[in-house]
Amino acid sequence: MHFGQSLILICLVVGLGAETEVLTGTPLPNPPRANISQCALVNDNDRYDCIPRGNATQEICELRGCCWSETKAGIPPCFFQPKFLSYKFKNITEKPDGLEAYLERSYKSIYPNDITVIKLIATYQSDSTLRIKIIDPRRKRYESIFPEKEINTPRARNPLYRLIIEKDYQGFKVVRVSDNTNIFDVSDLANFIYSDQFIQITTNLPSTYLYGLGEHKERFKLQSNWTTYTLYSRDTSPLPNTNLYGSHPFYLCMENSTKSHGLFLKNSNAMDIIIQPSPALTFRTIGGILDFFIFLGPTPSDVLKQYQEIIGKPKMPPYWSLGFHLSKFGLEDLETTKDYIQRNLNVGIPVQTIWNDLDYMDQANDFTYDKKNFNGLPEFVDSLHEQGRKYVVLFDPGVSAGESEGSYPPFDKGNELDIFIKNSSGQNLIAKVWNPVSTVYPDFTHPKTFEYWKLMMKSFHDDVAFDGAWLDMNEPSNMIQGSLNGCPDSELETPPYLPNVLENSLNKKTICMTAKQYAGVQYDLHNVFGISETNITSKVVSEILGERSLVIARSTFPGSGQYAGHWSGDIGSNWEDLRYSIPQLLDFSLFGMPLMGADICGFFGPSNEPLCNRWMQLGAFYPFSRNHNSKWTHQEQDPASMGDRVINSSKKALEIRYTLLPYLYTLFWQANQNGSTVARPLLIEFPEDPNTYEIDTSFLWGSGLLIVPVLEENKNSVATYLPKGVWYNYYTRKILRSVGEVIDIEVDDETIPLFIQGGQIIPTQDFKPLTEDVRNSDLTIVAALDENGNANGMFYWDDGISIDVGKNYTLLSLKVRNGTLSVDVINKSIEEPPKIKSIEILGLDESFNQRILHQRQYDYVYNKERQNLMIQNLNINCSSSTSLQWS
Ligand code: GLC
Repeated sequence: MHFGQSLILICLVVGLGAETEVLTGTPLPNPPRANISQCALVNDNDRYDCIPRGNATQEICELRGCCWSETKAGIPPCFFQPKFLSYKFKNITEKPDGLEAYLERSYKSIYPNDITVIKLIATYQSDSTLRIKIIDPRRKRYESIFPEKEINTPRARNPLYRLIIEKDYQGFKVVRVSDNTNIFDVSDLANFIYSDQFIQITTNLPSTYLYGLGEHKERFKLQSNWTTYTLYSRDTSPLPNTNLYGSHPFYLCMENSTKSHGLFLKNSNAMDIIIQPSPALTFRTIGGILDFFIFLGPTPSDVLKQYQEIIGKPKMPPYWSLGFHLSKFGLEDLETTKDYIQRNLNVGIPVQTIWNDLDYMDQANDFTYDKKNFNGLPEFVDSLHEQGRKYVVLFDPGVSAGESEGSYPPFDKGNELDIFIKNSSGQNLIAKVWNPVSTVYPDFTHPKTFEYWKLMMKSFHDDVAFDGAWLDMNEPSNMIQGSLNGCPDSELETPPYLPNVLENSLNKKTICMTAKQYAGVQYDLHNVFGISETNITSKVVSEILGERSLVIARSTFPGSGQYAGHWSGDIGSNWEDLRYSIPQLLDFSLFGMPLMGADICGFFGPSNEPLCNRWMQLGAFYPFSRNHNSKWTHQEQDPASMGDRVINSSKKALEIRYTLLPYLYTLFWQANQNGSTVARPLLIEFPEDPNTYEIDTSFLWGSGLLIVPVLEENKNSVATYLPKGVWYNYYTRKILRSVGEVIDIEVDDETIPLFIQGGQIIPTQDFKPLTEDVRNSDLTIVAALDENGNANGMFYWDDGISIDVGKNYTLLSLKVRNGTLSVDVINKSIEEPPKIKSIEILGLDESFNQRILHQRQYDYVYNKERQNLMIQNLNINCSSSTSLQWS
């Protein structure tokens, strides 16, 4: 191994001191005053804040042994002295698959309960993934219970990284072997703190091109101007600089060399992450342990694959869930629901799935339906199924606690099994969500909750045969602070360091931090409440249906993609939120949750016709495409209600979506198998082109389709960057050869600009109003040639619902070389896959040999101006490999 030599040296010098010697500590001294000449060496941008979120004064600062000098606003005036002795390495032991070391604290930190001796365990997990875990060796601390995927045993043979412990044993760094880039650089441990409720570590970064760290309303590229990103799941309508519904402590970094790396901190406590211009990044978490996974890439898609090896790859969605969904909060009865759907079907909107919000429930109580206003719901759902449509309902995690005994089994049964979350004194914690009186929450970490949730879902499903579950309010949200009885005074409710959470309180709009679950206290488990519910629901619904389930969850955590998709919550009906929906979508591509979309036309506030017109166009290209509206908006926004222009736009965009479903479904299958992306940021497809690093107004589907929505009012043109290469206008098939330039596209009101990338083959099927009919229709293979006349693609096909994805499917590899399309059958399903009825070649100049086509009696049309060849009326059976030649 590469790293062996330097470490052996270190071990010789330090010696392998007895563990016990290091573990017994005496009380820590206060730090000495900072050395002024050392302080003067620190540039403004390189300061590590010594009084984070505190009222900094010179006196307090100097007592902490830190440097004081006021400078520009936003830059900390009190900062750590360089090489300030926080912890120092005590002994280092090399292991076959990594190393272990102890670190001992030198001085008191400013937080209570410093852990004086900590242990660093580095595991060379694979050639591209290094794990660094820092724990308290004397006392087991909480470790995030998610992602629950088993982590493979280490098997690094030729690692791309080297872990270096600095000579003076005061820091460490992870270096990429091939170019000596510091990937994780903690070579100065000056501000490193590991206390019971405050853990802080800073890494210098090789560039400011950082992405991820969600969930936030933010541009795709994160800011690095002393910017704080707070991770703490919170029910709030998305605002900038605010912690939102989910927590994803993962970032991707594009280095200046165009290589990339990623980092995941497996920790579910509330945390702040600060990015400063040096550039450097500081994690400040208020509990758990440090458990880093560092991914060496070197391409961004490699990084994401490596990340998903650790957190789990995305679930394969049912085929039907890729159709268009129509929803609304405030469909107050069944008649209104029926009219709502019918008026859209009447104008030709291909509504595949109908959603009911909590309106369907009796008194907003889970697992009931309103027998008066929704009388006939079961029959309605059956009729939807007969039509080939699907039905999804909302579930809140909270269960009503105010019903009379014996009248509401979800409460009685949960109480009997004793699976509700408890308060600090061990009684059910009583909160209040939508239910009329009060609410309790199932503890989804409890071993009996699976059985409970399944029983409840099953008995409801026996009445109302829903096809999917919409999981809302699972931050968990609570409309009162903490509980009906408030929360006790505790360091858990008001920790010594409070991250920059909305409303400056951990228990606002949620339950007490002292609440107890089977797996621990809420303080540790808050951020994983959503994923624990989602995990169980996904399995339960699949078991009930005997099919793949559709689950859409609001609160998410690393690994949620294995169970569900996501929508971006209660965004506004305005142009700004239309625009922000793209970076949000792309973030969740990084987080391994490709089934994602925003409420089309916006949720809060009245939508309007021009906005909804452009939003329906973009929304047709969200992987999860749903128009949902709030109840308080006295403005309908379903396409049919918006007039002819929106109806035409919606139909045009959705018809394209439906013809592309085989391509989209294949991308989902690839994501499920390999951890690749579906809605793809340009930088993932073109990492060698730094011009793509800040683009978040356009995106791709896979490698093949570039989507360039109009995001401004009254605009009939859009300027977009087209990376170097051959592109085809989707509508005109006209070829565009880009040198890597910004182009202006003229566009009418009813069209969303789309481009196909040369070199890609896109399988398409016929537009039909129902997804099942699309899935069974004949194929048209669209091959867009690159500058050398080549193209590649894939087609994956299965029954669209089987839980066991890898069992019975057809997989075709599609390739164009030297004027021949070959279709290779890699796997064959029991059922016969669709036939290829036509092949369209884009970018073919007229010099090709039409004789062959005549000889073989192909029915074809060549368009000289468009340079496309359409070979039609084929009847190619895809059960065996075949090829077709045109020159
Ligand atoms: C939350 C959801 C929203 C839903 C509403 C009523 O605000 O985010 O989508 O319509 O609750 O259930």
